[in-house]
Amino acid sequence: EKMGEITNMMEYQAIAKQKLPKMAYDYYASGAEDEWTLKENREAFSRILFRPRILIDVSTIDMTTSVLGLKISMPIMIAPTAFQKMAHPEGEYATARAAAAAGTAMTLSSWATSSVEEVASTGPGIRFFQLYVYKDRKVVEQLVRRAEKAGFKAIALTVDTPRLGRREADIKNRFVLPPNLTLKNFEGLDLGKMDQAADSGLASYVAGQIDRTLSWKDVKWLQTITTMPILVKGVITAEDARLAVHSGAAGIIVSNHGARQLDYVPATISALEEVVTAAQGRIPVFLDGGVRRGTDVFKALALGAAGVFIGRPVVFALAAEGEAGVRNILRMIREEFELTMALGGCTKLSDITRRHIFTEDDRLG
Ligand code: FNR
Repeated sequence: EKMGEITNMMEYQAIAKQKLPKMAYDYYASGAEDEWTLKENREAFSRILFRPRILIDVSTIDMTTSVLGLKISMPIMIAPTAFQKMAHPEGEYATARAAAAAGTAMTLSSWATSSVEEVASTGPGIRFFQLYVYKDRKVVEQLVRRAEKAGFKAIALTVDTPRLGRREADIKNRFVLPPNLTLKNFEGLDLGKMDQAADSGLASYVAGQIDRTLSWKDVKWLQTITTMPILVKGVITAEDARLAVHSGAAGIIVSNHGARQLDYVPATISALEEVVTAAQGRIPVFLDGGVRRGTDVFKALALGAAGVFIGRPVVFALAAEGEAGVRNILRMIREEFELTMALGGCTKLSDITRRHIFTEDDRLG
């Protein structure tokens, strides 16, 4: 049966659910434990309302911006999500091409099913490398050097995963990477395979390989092995925002890992303002988590974000339509954001202010 035309990025989730094996779909869709934060990442956006300005000439809208000095077409980028070839045979290649075509940045996961070199081979594009720090620091050094050599422009250091969050669907499914796929960045390092485990194969892999001792001094250490700027991904408090600034981070990504780590942390959009205030404009603050609409992007920017990243919709669109699907979600959210700016009375990103929105706290205060 033919469905009507896809009109927003959320519609790809149902198609992905039909198309993908249950183990793959559940891995992509799940959050941790009760999935309270998963729901809240969306619901918190819906509690923020607009204060649009009228009678402003909005005949031309400029959505361009720069991130770490790199020009992008819109403040909407692609978050790292692991194992994209489980969604579509072209996996990360398709995502890289779609991001480049849209003129925006893509973040490649450490646990990609395509290597940094393979992704670079797709042609020019702005790419960041998401880093998980392994116990074996030689492996980390080697990987960071390879990313730098392959033309990656920044490291997104994930700091919310000393252990894997409890994703109960993955435990029930005994989640493991399909046998035809490997963690391509670790192939040849004997770390490219994930073994079947008594529970989630990924949780066991993390427990075996990822360095739980990771601390702020390692953020400094990373700066001694690379010239790439470091974005600290997974900050949701003012305290940690201040520490990120002091440890030389080039930016912060307010993230709760798509609600897959600690359940009952606030939605990222609820934590954003305290992080922005603490960063005092010294480094840019980005956000991911539940961004699905152009209105969400506007709200994040109004609360001080320099840009946003999108996670799950990319893998769902990949599953449905490969590169064309990813291109389509980027096109749809871009058009929605442009319309939101026009209806909100903003012609460029710097026009978007805190006064263009109000939250429940504003109403109480
Ligand atoms: C992720 N995320 C993630 N983060 C990271 O730093 N390294 C990774 O390998 C992955 N892998 C991953 C896989 C899947 C299937 C999901 C859904 C998420 C987290 C991701 O970068 C981002 O923080 C969230 O996905 C953003 O939330 P939304 O857009 O999915 O709601």
